[in-house]
Amino acid sequence: MKRLALLGTIFVSVPLLAVAMTTHSVAYPEGYRSWTHVKSMVIHPDHGLADPFEGIHHVYANDSALAGLRSNTYEDGAVLVFDLLSQVPGGGATQEGERKFIGVMEYDAERFAATGGWGFEAFAGNSTVERAVNDGGASCFACHQGAKEDNYVFSKYRD
Ligand code: HEC
Repeated sequence: MKRLALLGTIFVSVPLLAVAMTTHSVAYPEGYRSWTHVKSMVIHPDHGLADPFEGIHHVYANDSALAGLRSNTYEDGAVLVFDLLSQVPGGGATQEGERKFIGVMEYDAERFAATGGWGFEAFAGNSTVERAVNDGGASCFACHQGAKEDNYVFSKYRD
């Protein structure tokens, strides 16, 4: 009887796990602040994309994504991060403020085939678990169509 109950638990938890993995498949990019800095940009309140991108953002690439930026060919495991901080003007300068969110693109040709091979996710503030994308990345991908020629990646790596 005890064994039966245990079996029941296994059968119930396996499908639940599978659902969790398909809905939350982009991993939090642990350690991305030590990756290669690709570029930065400031988006002012009067910019067309100010909602939600106003602020200072920095783009980071892991080694695989850096190789992709150079060759315009991405391998599974390539990850790009868009790190958005609020801007704090004053004293003739603009400083970085609080983190608003990070946007993540993770490449896996098979798993993310529906969105050009890229999985899109956003993590609110400094959270590693509070996910903000709830449409499977469709709206992120719709705008990233603008960079279709470059495998949906807008940023360019400069020397
Ligand atoms: C309205 C258009 C638009 C939407 C929507 C959008 N992005 Fe982007 N994204 C851009 C642009 C433009 C850049 C390039 C920014 C730069 O040059 O600094 C970019 C850059 C990025 C980058 C760095 C790699 C690259 O392509 O340059 C990541 C990662 C990223 N976005 C993730 C996301 C995620 C995740 C979402 C959805 C939550 C999203 N984006 C939604 C326009 C968009």
